[in-house]
Amino acid sequence: MKISEFFSAQHRACDTAFEKMEEAISGDDWPLAESLFDELSQDTQQHFSNEEQGLFPLFEEKTGMQAGPTQVMRGEHVELRELLQRIGDAVRGKDQDEALGTAETFFLFLQQHNVKEEQVLYPMADQALQGSLQELSDKVPGFEASE
Ligand SMILES: [Fe+2]
Ligand SMILES: [Fe+2]
Repeated sequence: MKISEFFSAQHRACDTAFEKMEEAISGDDWPLAESLFDELSQDTQQHFSNEEQGLFPLFEEKTGMQAGPTQVMRGEHVELRELLQRIGDAVRGKDQDEALGTAETFFLFLQQHNVKEEQVLYPMADQALQGSLQELSDKVPGFEASE
């Protein structure tokens, strides 16, 4: 599987989890919102860690670009994690306005982040890491090096 396909599919899965959670918050279903938040949080953290522990270091090694796009993406992950944490706090506190407002901010920022990865970073990674897919699959659960 191509790197861009695998990582983009994880973006879509997180988007779906997000939309379900947002619906539950809007519908005042707090137990459901909380369990959907946990799902979103787990999927997002796993995806970020696939990038930070797997894709980014390999990308930096193979391209020699240490201070390039991966550094920008790491910085954005920090901000996105903070927003995610704030959503979780609001959901646990059953604060609908804060939860929906922060969710909106998180989602807009995440979409901008994902577009940069899907249009710039992942296509570059597909090129640069063609010979390193086995190495990547050792670090990214579920990623298959074979075609
Ligand atoms: Fe990312
Ligand atoms: Fe990503």
